[in-house]
Amino acid sequence: MGLTFNMGARRTMKGAARGSFELPADDLVTHGVVVGMTGSGKTGLVTVLVEEALRNRIPVLLLDVKGDVANLKLAFPSYAADHIAPWVEAARGDEDGIADGALVDEVAGERRKELMAWGITEDDLASYCATTHVRVITPGSDAGEPLHLLSALERRSSRWDHDVIGARATLEAAVSMVLRLMGRDPDPAQSRAHALLTAIAERRLLANLPADLASLLPDIITPPFATIGALDVETYIGLKARGELAADLNTLIASSSLARWRQGQDLDVANGAGRRQDDGDDHQRRASAGRRARARARRGARGSARVDALAAGHEQAARPHRVRRDLRLPARRTRTTHRRSARWSR
Ligand SMILES: Nc1ncnc2c1ncn2[C@@H]1O[C@H](COP(=O)(O)OP(=O)(O)OP(=O)(O)O)[C@@H](O)[C@H]1O
Ligand SMILES: [Mg+2]
Repeated sequence: MGLTFNMGARRTMKGAARGSFELPADDLVTHGVVVGMTGSGKTGLVTVLVEEALRNRIPVLLLDVKGDVANLKLAFPSYAADHIAPWVEAARGDEDGIADGALVDEVAGERRKELMAWGITEDDLASYCATTHVRVITPGSDAGEPLHLLSALERRSSRWDHDVIGARATLEAAVSMVLRLMGRDPDPAQSRAHALLTAIAERRLLANLPADLASLLPDIITPPFATIGALDVETYIGLKARGELAADLNTLIASSSLARWRQGQDLDVANGAGRRQDDGDDHQRRASAGRRARARARRGARGSARVDALAAGHEQAARPHRVRRDLRLPARRTRTTHRRSARWSR
């Protein structure tokens, strides 16, 4: 028998237990979609799917425009209260804004009880944490790990020596990104500017030269080759168009917003994705991040919604709500669980 994902409890509409819902992983080899009204449990379902995939050692790449699934980082290796302390919301009116020990213990006790009811032992938690590593990559921001989206241009990849097609694809993506930032057509199949910039950058990278944006400017005006495709450069993209492209690129170089796309890890899935970073003190860092986030929330900064999400996510990571997870959950029941989860962030 193949892998199965344990998706939660199977129940009748009236709530009677019907064992657990084991989803054969083979059922997920093509496309899927999760739909439902607000608060019906879509994120919870996807979170469990991802956790089950990770538990089965299946690497997962998530593109998350909403910022929910970063909560996967809030998984802790034991029932101990220490892990969750930074994430427990202080009681209303608590002066220092830091949850009291008694409250933390109470929440930890509840977490422990729920996990045990699910048959999730401390060994399971420890092994999940030891075998999974969640990286939160936040292009354009240093809230998580920033990503250098122009790395393919600015840092010559060794791929050019053994995988020219792969290196070219990465370069084309970087050029598309640059054109997008300039407000121009980023489509390699449509944009003459794309073809010109790619040809210039590729020539430089193959010659072991840097291809950062500024270095491309002179070659845009005076291309170091006579043809692009089957046409001569001047016919394909004339001097006036090249001058405008160079001016637009220069505006981008001068803009302050460019910097945030140019920091952090190289954008190279083959080299970077899933690679375990040096995170021996990952839990420590997450705990202090939690403290910082809560401090921000106390100061009334925009972070508070996020902190709520993290608090809820802590619950998600600990999976207490899985006790009742069921795809056929009636809406009324979901509202009850909303209140239930509110208790976590009291
Ligand atoms: N199967 C379930 N059983 C009980 N509670 C659940 C279940 N799934 C999710 N919940 C709880 O219901 C609440 C809302 O769930 P969730 O955030 O997953 O909904 P959503 O459909 O993603 O909402 P939105 O549309 O706002 O993104 C959360 O507090 C979560 O803990
Ligand atoms: Mg959601």
